[in-house]
Formats: sequence, C-alpha cells, structure tokens
Amino acid sequence: MNLSITALKPLSGSIVLPGDKSLSHRAALFAALAEGTSTVNRFLVSGVTRAMLNSITALGIEWRLEGDSLTVVGKGLHGFTAPAAPLDCGNSATTIRMLAGALAASGTACVLDGSAGLRSRPMNRIIDPLRQMNVPITSDSGCAPLTLTSRTPDNKLAAIQYTLPIASAQVKSCLILAALSADAATILQEPGPSRDHTERMLAAMGAAITVEEPYTVKIEPLAQPLAPLAITLPGDISSAAFMLVAAAIVPGSRITIRDVGVNPTRTGILDALREMGAVITITNQRVSCGEQVADITLTAAPLKAINVSGESVVRMIDEFPAFAVAAAYAEGTTMVREAEELRHKESDRITTLCNELKKLGVVLEEFPDGFAVTGGTVQGGSCAAHGDHRLAMSLALAGLQSPAPVVVQDAEILNESFPAFTANLVRLGCEAGEA
Ligand code: S3P
Repeated sequence: MNLSITALKPLSGSIVLPGDKSLSHRAALFAALAEGTSTVNRFLVSGVTRAMLNSITALGIEWRLEGDSLTVVGKGLHGFTAPAAPLDCGNSATTIRMLAGALAASGTACVLDGSAGLRSRPMNRIIDPLRQMNVPITSDSGCAPLTLTSRTPDNKLAAIQYTLPIASAQVKSCLILAALSADAATILQEPGPSRDHTERMLAAMGAAITVEEPYTVKIEPLAQPLAPLAITLPGDISSAAFMLVAAAIVPGSRITIRDVGVNPTRTGILDALREMGAVITITNQRVSCGEQVADITLTAAPLKAINVSGESVVRMIDEFPAFAVAAAYAEGTTMVREAEELRHKESDRITTLCNELKKLGVVLEEFPDGFAVTGGTVQGGSCAAHGDHRLAMSLALAGLQSPAPVVVQDAEILNESFPAFTANLVRLGCEAGEA
C-alpha cells in the first residue's frame, strides 16, 4: 500500500486511541501466567499483539477476543505445554524477549523465532544474563531462533545481581519474569529510566517487586500464584505521539486525545514538543490499574529546534521518527545525540530515518549516535518504510505541509502497531490517499 496524507486545514477535534502496545503485550502474557480468568479491555488488536496471542495459544493457553476486550484463562507460572513447532514472534522484539523470560520461569521447552527482521535483532542482551541464571537457552548467532530446553519447577533458577549495559524495558522484563522462578531475590540495575509497566502490572498481580532506588528493582521469587487481571488499558502514548506531531506541524491546529497513558517513563515526547514551542496541557489526570492516565490537548504554535540527549532519549525511544518530522518543520537545527540504541529497533532508525527524509528534501546529518535535522526543508517525494511501522507513519506525517506530496511505499506495515492511524488523522481533518 502507498500512503499519502495531507492537511488542507488545521487539525481539530477529540479522539480516543487504541490501548497501549507495551501494556497489551504484558497483559496477555501475564494473564497467561496467572491462575484464573483475566479480562483486559481496550486491548490493542494489531500485528505484534497477534504474534503474542498466537504464541500463548501454542503454549496451551485459551483466550477470546471480542472487539478489543480480551479474556485469557491463565494456568499459572508452570502451566504452559511445550509447543510442537517453533513459536513465530513475527516482527516483535517485545514478544520474543518477554516470552523468553516467561518460558525461563515456567521451564517449558520451546524454540522462539520470527521474521527475517526480528532474526537480525540482538538477543545476547537477554541470553547472557539468562544463562547467568542457569536458564537452558541457546542460540547459534546471538539472534533468533532461541532454543530453551525444559526444566522442572523444583530445579530453581539462580538469583542474580545484574547491571543492564543499556536501559531496556524488554531486557528488564525478560529478567523480571525469569526471576519469579529463582532461588532468592534478584536485583536488576539500569543506567536510565526505561518503562516500568512490568513492575507495576506484576506487583498489582501479587508479585513482590520493589523499586529499591532509582533504576534498581528487586524481585522476590513468586510465593503465591499471580492473581488474574481485570483492567482497562489506557490509550498508547506512542500512537498519540503521531497525532500530536501532526497537530504541532499544521498551523492553527488544536486537538485533544483522551485517556492516554502518561507513565513518566514514556512522556519524553511531551517534554520535547513543549520545549519546541507546542502548547500542551494535561487534564483529567487519574491512576487506573497502577498507571497514570490523562487527556492531552495540543495547540499548535511555531516550532523551534531543540537538542535531545541523555535520559530523555529512553523516555521517548520510540518517538524519534515522529520527532524528526516535527524537527523538519521547526526553525533551526535540531540535534539528537546519545541515541545509538535507535540502530537496534525495527530498522536502523538513524540510517533509515536520515536516508528516507533526505529523499523528501530534508537536510540532515547522520552521526554514529544520532542526527541533526535542519528545519523548514521538507519538499516531498517518494520514500520507503523499510518494514518499520513507526518509520512508515512518521514519513507519512512529513506530507502534511509539504510543497509536493509525500508518498510512503509499503506503508501497510503500520498495521503492526497502529491500524487506526489513518482513520484517526482523517477524523482530525486530514486528507488521506491509499493506493
Ligand atoms: C518496549 C520497550 C522498548 C520499546 C519497544 C517496547 C516494551 O524497547 O522500544 O517498542 O514494551 O518493553 P527496549 O526495551 O528494547 O528499549
């Protein structure tokens, strides 16, 4: 599918977006590990969460989806049955890394595999610490496929004290899950504030998980079964980011997105857009199932360039493609540094972003750990999504105010995380063409 989006008038209106991707993955998997029936409302139904649901089916777990309401019948921490064939985690690194942790905890023999793209993503970051815990996991190349052999529940894993080389919620979540089956408390330290949804959700289900000091989490072995979930997920701030950037770059826009998750480990994009000049107000703040939720209103104002580095990077790790497009419409040169981790996402998001935006006329400079974008340089043209859902959506946003149309090829990859992307932009007043 080729996608082209433009805005002939300011964006306006109020929308509610689908449930958070990170929380949807966790809710499905943790519900499978709980004992009893969980209900998860506003579950994100998309390509990557289908990979998670299909995987838990193959592990012998029953679930039912009615609209976006998910019911899962959990069988406990050791309730998985060994699947007959390798599990296909599709394009989803969250699926493979969290499943590896869950399988380590359950002791189930299994091969975890996925798409060619997923097979090229680094897995040593989970294999090395899992091996330190005596998890029987192997891989030929430090990448998928990953092979886990079986382990009896009375043969406990070894508790570890481990410092993650990079802040990563996927790695942390994998190790937290494995730690539920360890012989003593595990302590994990991170160099920065990665998202803490796993800690919050598992604690709400009865696991003894405590934050000891900033970026240090202690996990006690599971003493009683995880309690089932009965939750409504908040809207995904990473999906909201596309709508916010769209409104920020179209003069005169004012939009509200209701019921969005505003966990402070995820709100770096709000800080960045504010610093660029967009007017953002947060209202109706509340806590739902341990997560902060709010309505976000953005009023467009002239954007100026900013610098992003350090801890802000992990707090907006998924938002750099959209942020780069906002920077391309800002005054001045925006600088992103200390963001080398972007090279290990669905695509090498430093190189693909720079090369594709350059095709649209944008002036950029690529660095090993980031990029510089000169604003006011978008012209238009044709560009490619590189199998990266966030790149596809971000490039489409570049066409909102471009002198010539922007056409994104193979844009259907956006269905991996945000199938309702185009429909929501149209709801806010944009014109979309799909061919
Ligand atoms: C995620 C963590 C992040 C993020 C990904 C989702 C999660 O990855 O980029 O989209 O749900 O835990 P890393 O932990 O690898 O940074």
